[in-house]
Amino acid sequence: MLLLGIETSCDDTATALVRDGRDVLASVSTNQDAFHAKYGGIVPEIASRQHVALLSAAIEDALGRAGARFAELDGIAVTYGPGLIGSLVVGVAAAKALAFALDKPLFAINHLHGHVFAAFLDRAEPPSFPFLALLVSGGHSQVVAVDSPARMTVLGRTRDDAAGEAYDKTARLLGFGYPGGPAIEQAARAGNAQAFRFPRSFIHDRQRLAFSFSGLKTAVRYTIAPPGLEPPERLAPELVADLAASFQEAVVDVLVGKCRHALESTGLSVLAIGGGVAANARLAERFQQAAQQHAFRLYIAPRQLCTDNAVMGAIAVERWRAGLIEALDLDVTPGLVR
Ligand code: KG4
Ligand code: ZN
Repeated sequence: MLLLGIETSCDDTATALVRDGRDVLASVSTNQDAFHAKYGGIVPEIASRQHVALLSAAIEDALGRAGARFAELDGIAVTYGPGLIGSLVVGVAAAKALAFALDKPLFAINHLHGHVFAAFLDRAEPPSFPFLALLVSGGHSQVVAVDSPARMTVLGRTRDDAAGEAYDKTARLLGFGYPGGPAIEQAARAGNAQAFRFPRSFIHDRQRLAFSFSGLKTAVRYTIAPPGLEPPERLAPELVADLAASFQEAVVDVLVGKCRHALESTGLSVLAIGGGVAANARLAERFQQAAQQHAFRLYIAPRQLCTDNAVMGAIAVERWRAGLIEALDLDVTPGLVR
């Protein structure tokens, strides 16, 4: 089954051609970072307009790289939520138009499901249900129980900033641009993770499977300059490295600690991790150590499939098998939480 995936939930204009939910024939992602960088974050209106400008070429590019023609497609899979409303509308409109013109089935992909199932896209064996998943992206930090390809139950989520958002906001404090995750990871390599003891919110609270990362960002800010004082124009590179490493260790400590609690309390023994922050090498290292020590199986999405991409739409094969085909009046659902 040859699927065209379209993903425009945020600021990446992404398309992919995937055969049988596994063989990636092409994966195209046109990064819009240059258009958003000077604003220090994503500007939704700019993202939507860029998707309009880039999407047709990204679709043709994917087909060209795969050496495939429109007529050979067996279906179109598109992200319909959650995400930025204007951005989602562009991808969904394109997918519906193609499905109508080509008379092919249309599949609606929940972006969060896509991130979770990305952990299995390079595996020979499909996931066995149920399993636990940690979703850590720019917009979400959630622990979910995954019962089937189409059903996830959120067990806990962040009270404030998402993990990726904390990386992005802290990166700004340290003088880096957007996206902040890769910059902090890079800076942290030269730093001492024990230099500063930043807060690890709720880490010992076994009752609540909740995250909070906004206090962490504030703690970094007040380490740079106490409340009421302006931070200096430039920070010494050694200080930046120590702040980055100590910040990162606090984030990873919380994520590992909360997932261990969740595995224990649910009795599940498989953990899948997806979303942009899962691309972080320190996170992977710490989870691998935990998996060995506490005997759970760990699946982390390959680095290039952690951040937003259209290959994640390959899970539509499961929807196709289950007969979950959308009507052409499919609407975007920006606040989708399932
Ligand atoms: O999944 P994603 O591409 O988009 C959303 O659905 O939000 O995640 C983007 C987020 C950004 O906050 C970015 O800073 C973070 O993922 N990120 C990372 C790394 N690469 C991307 N965070 C930590 N370490 C990384 N290497
Ligand atoms: Zn995402």
